[in-house]
Amino acid sequence: MTPWPQIDSRGMGRVAVLMGGLSAEREISLMSGKGVLAALQSRGVDAFAFDPAVDDLVALKSFGAQRAFINLHGRWGEDGTVQGALELLGIPYTGPGVLASALAIDKAMTKRLWHFEGLPTPLWREVGSLPEARAVVAELGFPLIFKATHEGSTLGLQRADGDADVEAAYLEAARFDSRVLVEQFIVGDEVTCGVIGAGSTARALPLIRIVAPGGNYDYEHKYFSDDTRYICPSELPADEEARIQELVLRSYRTLGCRGWARADIMIRATDRQPFLLEINTSPGMTGHSLVPMAARVAGLEYADLCLLILSMAALDQPHVDKRPHAPASPALPPEGAHPALGRPGGGVEGPR
Ligand SMILES: Nc1ncnc2c1ncn2[C@@H]1O[C@H](COP(=O)(O)OP(=O)(O)O)[C@@H](O)[C@H]1O
Ligand SMILES: [Mg+2]
Repeated sequence: MTPWPQIDSRGMGRVAVLMGGLSAEREISLMSGKGVLAALQSRGVDAFAFDPAVDDLVALKSFGAQRAFINLHGRWGEDGTVQGALELLGIPYTGPGVLASALAIDKAMTKRLWHFEGLPTPLWREVGSLPEARAVVAELGFPLIFKATHEGSTLGLQRADGDADVEAAYLEAARFDSRVLVEQFIVGDEVTCGVIGAGSTARALPLIRIVAPGGNYDYEHKYFSDDTRYICPSELPADEEARIQELVLRSYRTLGCRGWARADIMIRATDRQPFLLEINTSPGMTGHSLVPMAARVAGLEYADLCLLILSMAALDQPHVDKRPHAPASPALPPEGAHPALGRPGGGVEGPR
């Protein structure tokens, strides 16, 4: 296994750990953020907590933030908006940039791109009304899953096994979004796969196989049940795992992701065909979250993972202050490849 780069925490400067925010996933975000903050501080990083629901993002400048670790989920956090604000402020941030974040939060747009690139994703239609939903079920066939196009954490997710379920499934998903995704339900194993890095040198983490009681993978089970099992190493055949990791890397690059992300995949039981469901561009980062779990199996401890993700913080556009009489801009991360992961970074020790 290629070793992970060693990161020198002294090169990270003053770091804002963004947590909380305004999305439906605020509580999870706070848990992730507190974990990351403690880990970074334990490694000597000058990190502080910042909740955009409490303080205006513009205040980041006066707090002296030189990098931002984004631990916000969902809308106004994972969707390109905070990323855009940080671009304007000139503060390099963790994870994918503006466009990749905005694409990935939109499950329908993501699937369109994957479909266009020939990457497997379950057949789907996007609808905006119950009559439209009724019209597409005939075309797609049962079982189906209804989900809010933009929402995460399994909010508004409903399975429909026949015509009698369609109205309730549509109405539940529509509570969370004006656009509803109707998607073929894939019966089989569920796996999730973290990715770290950018471009051709991005690395896929080991797969985690998720086994929920009765296959009922809802919000409660995902975060609060002790019954869901997360199996890593996944115990899938090595060649199958490698194929899925390669697929995930392609799906990641197709959206233009950098930094890190995590893809969800269903493997059809009948023929072991994997189907991409979605990519999360700001995955959970509590000590029990999935990316930290897979990273540990790949030899990367939680605090090292936090440092590595932080070291890849970047801007889509290098920031140049064009105001008349502007103070000299602070040094930007150098352009060019991160030694191991293909992205500008900073404070990285190790072979170049
Ligand atoms: N097409 C599908 N077939 C089978 N299960 C699905 C499908 N889509 C979603 N699921 C299940 O629902 C969960 C949540 O769906 P996902 O698309 O990942 O949305 P989110 O995690 O944003 O709520 C998945 O982890 C999986 O267990
Ligand atoms: Mg998911």
